[in-house]
Amino acid sequence: MSDLEAIRSALLADCAAADSLDAIEAVRVKALGKQSAIAALMKTLGAMSPEERQAKAPRIQGLRGEIADAVASRKAVLEARALDARLASERLDMSLPVSAGPQGSIHPVSQVMDELAEIFADLGFAVATGPEIEDDWHNFTALNIPETHPARAMHDTFYLNDPAEIGGDWAKLFRADTRKVLRTHTSPVQIRTMLQTPPPIRIIAPGRTYRSDSDATHTPMFHQVEGLVIDRGIHMGHLKWTLETFVKAFFERDDIVLRLRPSYFPFTEPSAEVDVGYTRDKSGRRIIGGAEPDGWMEILGSGMVHPKVIAACGLDPAEWQGFAFGCGIDRLAMLKYGMDDLRAFFDGDLRWLRHYGFHSLDIPTLSGGVGA
Ligand code: PHE
Repeated sequence: MSDLEAIRSALLADCAAADSLDAIEAVRVKALGKQSAIAALMKTLGAMSPEERQAKAPRIQGLRGEIADAVASRKAVLEARALDARLASERLDMSLPVSAGPQGSIHPVSQVMDELAEIFADLGFAVATGPEIEDDWHNFTALNIPETHPARAMHDTFYLNDPAEIGGDWAKLFRADTRKVLRTHTSPVQIRTMLQTPPPIRIIAPGRTYRSDSDATHTPMFHQVEGLVIDRGIHMGHLKWTLETFVKAFFERDDIVLRLRPSYFPFTEPSAEVDVGYTRDKSGRRIIGGAEPDGWMEILGSGMVHPKVIAACGLDPAEWQGFAFGCGIDRLAMLKYGMDDLRAFFDGDLRWLRHYGFHSLDIPTLSGGVGA
């Protein structure tokens, strides 16, 4: 058994001497691998008498365990040392002066939102906001989209319940009183505003919206702006004038022609989709505007707020009427600034931003031109 002692002290010395992860791996193979002295000793157990095996086996197995532990603890020390060395060599000195100035610029979506706020502020509209994680009631029910309404299927909704919260009861994921959604439009801000502020109301609500949809013209996250006016004696004429004034200011030309097409939304009655006329320049490119349009592009949905929606917010529809509209901001930006792929908006590519982005001091004003 003195060989055991000799093997033990030699291997422990090897462990202690190993000073890299490669070296300790070599020790592991040499000490515990198939060709090792310990493996050879284990093999001798088979040929022993039961008594002899009973006496020797625990010592050989004990040695194997001790050496395996020694290898593992040396390996842990060397790993910690390697990590420290890496952290030290990869450290960034945040106090060093930068070699280039700031790289960012204002994203076209932010710029368009600023332009919208400026245009509508001039018409007496305030900016309202609401949560992106909405409950079913604000996103659907209060907007006259009851549970069984087919319009729910049109929205490709992202449902958000935490499995822990629903406690394994998966049916809760689909029950109106317990589910949360990523808002599919900015229309729930209509509801929140009517519940919070007594009329008359004039607001726009720009922000992020979500639908499970993705291709060159749809991204799962996109931006909308909602408009809402509630007052006495409001009619479609107010809606049409407001939209015309907005679109003329936004595209910065007076020869804008709008076309209101009868449409359907559960929360407006009557409803209208709004197209803007375009003409073509010499190279055939579509330009928004022109007194005699060559074609039409749809830009928004709108209508008179449904009496049921007004009543759901605790107001008397016999006294208060209003109009609402909802418009895709990304699409507005594409039309105004000539971008063709919506996905590029969210790539975070500095080259794209340098091309289409706006200087941070370029603040839109009506007098200076909202999109200069
Ligand atoms: N919320 C509608 C949509 O996302 C747009 C809309 C808003 C229509 C307000 C009418 C009134 O498609």
